Amino acid sequence: MQNLIFREATELDLPKVVEIAVEAIEYSQSPFRDSSLEKMKEYRRKDLEQLQSLFGQSSIGVFVAEKNGNILGHVIVLSGMKAVTGELQGWIIDLSVKKDFWGTGVAEELTLKAEEFIKLKGFQYLGLGVTSANKRAVRFYEKMGYQEERKQMVKKI
Ligand SMILES: CC(C)(COP(=O)(O)OP(=O)(O)OC[C@H]1O[C@@H](n2cnc3c(N)ncnc32)[C@H](O)[C@@H]1OP(=O)(O)O)[C@@H](O)C(=O)NCCC(=O)NCCS
Repeated sequence: MQNLIFREATELDLPKVVEIAVEAIEYSQSPFRDSSLEKMKEYRRKDLEQLQSLFGQSSIGVFVAEKNGNILGHVIVLSGMKAVTGELQGWIIDLSVKKDFWGTGVAEELTLKAEEFIKLKGFQYLGLGVTSANKRAVRFYEKMGYQEERKQMVKKI
């Protein structure tokens, strides 16, 4: 794709990053919960707005794909998160690409950026959580070499 660049985000990109992530949250909806999409969006927005205060710290990496001045997607990654083994690792907080650019390799490049960031921090593993019903995302991560390590379960009581 012409004029497509992958770069570290600046603070000015953050509102757009939050907007794309909030829009994409619908694909992470759980079929086992009654919570409305609006509630999920509200929660996601609040969660990601904390980014503004974390932004700039060395443990957080935010990378964007940009074409002709437009942000097409991003990845947000944190280093130094604890794994179940107790060791420190990286964690993908969010990976979202605008739907028009799915299947174009943008998500792959962003994921590689996150991996490189974590490798440079000296960590060996990069983890993430994904809604099982989000089959496209699950398939994408499998393609990228990620393996299922734990299952998170829920029951309405
Ligand atoms: C997840 C996301 C980043 C992946 O990027 P993408 O460009 O769509 O990914 P790709 O097209 O490279 O890979 C998706 C794969 O899933 C496959 N796929 C699509 N729909 C599928 C389905 N319903 N079931 C199983 N596999 C499916 C595709 O065919 C493709 O595999 P292939 O390359 O072997 O054909 C992007 O879809 C996205 O932004 N989704 C919304 C946000 C999101 O869900 N983020 C992840 C939260 S953890």
